[in-house]
Amino acid sequence: MTIMNKNSYNLCVAPMMGHTDAHFRYFLRLISKHAMLYTEMVASNSILHNKSKKYDKLTHEQDNPVGFQLGGDDPKKLSECAKIVESYGYDEINLNVGCPSKRAQSGNFGACLFSQPDIVAKCVNEITKNSSLPVTVKTRLGIDNLNDIIYLKDFIDKVSNSGVNTFHLHARIAILKKGINPKHNRTIPEINYERVYEIKKLFPNLKIILNGEINGPNDALNHLKYVDGVMLGRSICANPFLLNDIDILINSEEVVGKKRVIEQYFDYINKNFKKDVKITDFTKHLTCLFKGYIGSKHTRAFMCHELNFEKYPLKKLEELLFKEDLWINGPDLYSKAI
Ligand SMILES: Cc1cc2nc3c(=O)[nH]c(=O)nc-3n(C[C@H](O)[C@H](O)[C@H](O)COP(=O)(O)O)c2cc1C
Repeated sequence: MTIMNKNSYNLCVAPMMGHTDAHFRYFLRLISKHAMLYTEMVASNSILHNKSKKYDKLTHEQDNPVGFQLGGDDPKKLSECAKIVESYGYDEINLNVGCPSKRAQSGNFGACLFSQPDIVAKCVNEITKNSSLPVTVKTRLGIDNLNDIIYLKDFIDKVSNSGVNTFHLHARIAILKKGINPKHNRTIPEINYERVYEIKKLFPNLKIILNGEINGPNDALNHLKYVDGVMLGRSICANPFLLNDIDILINSEEVVGKKRVIEQYFDYINKNFKKDVKITDFTKHLTCLFKGYIGSKHTRAFMCHELNFEKYPLKKLEELLFKEDLWINGPDLYSKAI
């Protein structure tokens, strides 16, 4: 387990399915020493039945501090998972109370747990019996008709009494009833930063991390006047080096060398790419480097798909990353890409 400093949560990268896997987290850790990273959500059943055939979602390397996000509503199962997660060297258990997907709703986990704070509290209680890791909760400002600060305050009150002292608040509600999909649920309900600031005022002793549409260092700095930390999702996928820009501003970190980061990540790919693993599982996280250049669309498609069919994929990747100077000496357009 990583020893965390007092600023451990001031900068977080959001859990994102299909993005914040072990490879991306390794890459991000090369960019930021400080940022708290999160895994993709993993449902408790898939850990207990080990159904994930693509790769083992628990294995990770040099990405601490990192929180493991669990989805589920069964205290005993979550508690069993927490024990396993702890044995893999994670630093925190984060319970998902924000996912609006149909799958989450049909399994009674994610955002629908927002209307069941007693179950959330039971889950937290059980987890803390089986694991010494801190438990945090990522949730929304409300769901459907449960859309006021009084309900949110009561939810946080109950759940914090069960032992949670850090909440990640995606600053919008989730709409479950109308069949709006998760993608729309990240844009349609209006963002409401003020409600998050209010919650911090009501709970000065809790850590409140604000999430939602933070796109640049100044956004982050501004929110940090009112809350303990910021959590960024899509903007980091579009430009992972934004983490460094924010670290420079809020954690007095130095500029990281982009070329050095890419070299280190290439070494990691070299070490971990073997038979039965797709090279694009590693390189899909680099496509953001190639935004904004002539022919970049083709290069990005290549990194996500066609590279798998090259006879010597590592050699080809090396050429692409270091010899063709596609991005290293080119204009720094990708940092504006979303
Ligand atoms: C592709 C994608 C996958 C996501 N997967 C998860 C997830 O597994 N768990 C979770 O709590 N939130 C998930 N989210 C929501 C993000 O964590 C975050 O709350 C949301 O994107 C808002 O932050 P942003 O505006 O900085 O992107 C996902 C978001 C995206 C874009």
